[in-house]
Amino acid sequence: PRRVRVHHLAQWRQEGRQQVWLTAYDALTARILDEAGTDVLLVGDSVGNVVLGYDSTLPVELDEMVVATRSVARAVRRALVVADLPFGSYEAGPGQALASAVRLVKVGANAVKLEGGRQRADAVRMLTQAGIPVVAHVGFTPQSVNKLGGFRVQGRGEAAAEAMIEDVRLLAEAGAVAVVLEMVPEPVAARVTEASPVPTIGIGAGARCDGQVLVWSDMAGMTDWTPRFARRFGEVGQALREAAQDYGEAVRSAAFPTAEHWFDS
Ligand code: KIV
Ligand code: NA
Repeated sequence: PRRVRVHHLAQWRQEGRQQVWLTAYDALTARILDEAGTDVLLVGDSVGNVVLGYDSTLPVELDEMVVATRSVARAVRRALVVADLPFGSYEAGPGQALASAVRLVKVGANAVKLEGGRQRADAVRMLTQAGIPVVAHVGFTPQSVNKLGGFRVQGRGEAAAEAMIEDVRLLAEAGAVAVVLEMVPEPVAARVTEASPVPTIGIGAGARCDGQVLVWSDMAGMTDWTPRFARRFGEVGQALREAAQDYGEAVRSAAFPTAEHWFDS
């Protein structure tokens, strides 16, 4: 299949074609999600919560993002690979952001994502000038959960909506190729999308964005709890639990293995 390239994101917006993004953290699942035709695989710092057992994205280290990004990039044949810059790896300024982004590009990221509004414009500009496409992320930004006071919808009220529109304008002017809108009221996300020079990708931001992103394990129904903004498109967690139960039963009852699974002398 033809590789997805960064220019396709703008092209698809022009064509009115919704873009399909999912997170991925390892080669095993990235291969499946890529074969399913997902346009963009985001190696999210949600790897911290989803895979590594942390209770937020804040502990995630750049080294952990490097391992995950390398694994996903090696498995993918078509999807664009975007990797998150984790908390603490870019906020000091454009130089730090560039050094961190380079590590992710070296292991196969086609673009990087960072959180924040106009205060990140300088970092976006430097990465873009260095040849690294940048995806921005506004609205609820999980790395700022302590400042934001919990998981809360962002952009409510006219002043906040206007500020978000201006943030996106400045990020796009600095070179951002797309912007993730997380937990933004539906009408605000529609206004931001209308005003944005670049594609918007929503998560908890309604249908009037240029694409959608979900954490793959939420999408697939891997866990018991599902956030309001996600839909379970499968019950993969239960399917895996049942497979492991069946395997255990088969081993304990000597129903597995049988001759077809062993080797004769
Ligand atoms: O890390 C992540 O999963 C993300 C998406 C939810 C946008 O940043
Ligand atoms: Na993230």
